[in-house]
Amino acid sequence: MSNHHNTPPPTHYDVIIIGAGASGLYCALTAGRRGRRVLVLDHANKAGKKILMSGGGRCNFTNYFVEPEHFIGTNPHFCKSALSRYPSWEFIAMVEGHKIPYHEREHGQLFCDDSAQDILTMLLDECRAVGVQVRLNTKIDSVNTVEPDNNTRFQLATSKALNKKDMASGAKPSQVSYSCESLVVATGGLSIPTMGASGLGYELAQQFGHTLIATDASLVPFTFTDKTGELIRSLAGISLPVIASNERISFKLPVLFTHRGLSGPAMLQLSNYWHTGETISINLLPETDVTALLLAHKKSHPRQLIRTVLTENTNSALPKKLLAALQTQLWDDIKDTELANIKDERLLELGTTLNGWQLKPSGTEGYRTAEVTRGGVKTDEVSSKTMQSKLQEGLYFVGEVLDVTGWLGGYNFQWAWASGFVSGEVV
Ligand code: FDA
Repeated sequence: MSNHHNTPPPTHYDVIIIGAGASGLYCALTAGRRGRRVLVLDHANKAGKKILMSGGGRCNFTNYFVEPEHFIGTNPHFCKSALSRYPSWEFIAMVEGHKIPYHEREHGQLFCDDSAQDILTMLLDECRAVGVQVRLNTKIDSVNTVEPDNNTRFQLATSKALNKKDMASGAKPSQVSYSCESLVVATGGLSIPTMGASGLGYELAQQFGHTLIATDASLVPFTFTDKTGELIRSLAGISLPVIASNERISFKLPVLFTHRGLSGPAMLQLSNYWHTGETISINLLPETDVTALLLAHKKSHPRQLIRTVLTENTNSALPKKLLAALQTQLWDDIKDTELANIKDERLLELGTTLNGWQLKPSGTEGYRTAEVTRGGVKTDEVSSKTMQSKLQEGLYFVGEVLDVTGWLGGYNFQWAWASGFVSGEVV
């Protein structure tokens, strides 16, 4: 896809896309199919690094059930148009066209059978087939508007990072400037800086007068510093199905205790809806009304102990180690007391806690491990139909750089494909 060594690269393109990730590549192949001359620039040494590491290396590339409710953002309506114009079956059809084996997991999530590399190869093949050029190791030094000529609106100054071979041959860092009619910012979010994440997209947005919605790490595990933190860490490795909730939303999914805090799908999903300082609630026995159970057993089996009731009578029994730790923390003083001798109020208090354990995370693991960045370019200043800036003609924002964040489950890629597609149709 790169230029032949001897031929100097053309400096003018119809479309330049900054970011060879999910949304940038999808925009590129869509625009290329329309006959547009497209250049994709990326500072990384490889395209689509996040695609490769996604879904545990198998890329959860979309979901059978995509609804606007699966996305958050300051303007919840913004994502609707693109998602309805580019439904998930369009992407599935492309995957099938490339004979990529895939499978469905719970909640409609679609994963590659073999490797996320299949998805990246597909995108790069589709780009190549329509003449899209991808140039890696390219640093964007500046972006400026020029007096609108027929088909030129932007000028980009770039410099190329030198590889070892260049160094050995004594090459100088080459500075190349490009011009284009349409400029697409597809630089993604801030998560996983080691994979090429940068704030360039936000800086460019601000340069053109756009408002930013405060960004934060999301789809990310919670951390705890207080006594609860110690308890959680001591239970590292335990996973169980729970209902995790706050006043905005609730998710019935597994939670995972780790050496750093609480993770697992339930926590990642909830993190999209969590703000610093807020409390979360975890129903540890979602199939059981624990208060009712304890009170009933007080009548029918007055000599039983609380831990016996919880071990023998709950539909989804608590792992032994967790039960022991909870006992130490919550009812150590009455652990050997028969139900008959425990006040109803205490049983009610305990039941309420087990069906709604209130925890106050001290924070999250942050961008280091977050799957996505919440917030970003304010969507009220961008067309929901084309992703074009309402403030600067010819400028587009696609993918995660926008204030659109999906749930866990393939939704963030579906947003990348859909926003890439609708912009690719018009750039
Ligand atoms: P993306 O991050 O894909 O691409 C941005 C590109 O811009 C990168 O190539 C980067 O190098 C480039 N760039 C950044 N700054 C630049 C600069 N200054 N100059 C030049 N280039 C620059 N989602 C999902 O739906 N299913 C899943 O299974 C997963 N799994 C997953 C795992 C992990 C570990 C992470 C971190 C993330 C996921 N995600 C996911 C989220 C998903 O990867 C993410 O939402 C999309 O890749 C976003 O696509 P974009 O094109 O917006 O950004």
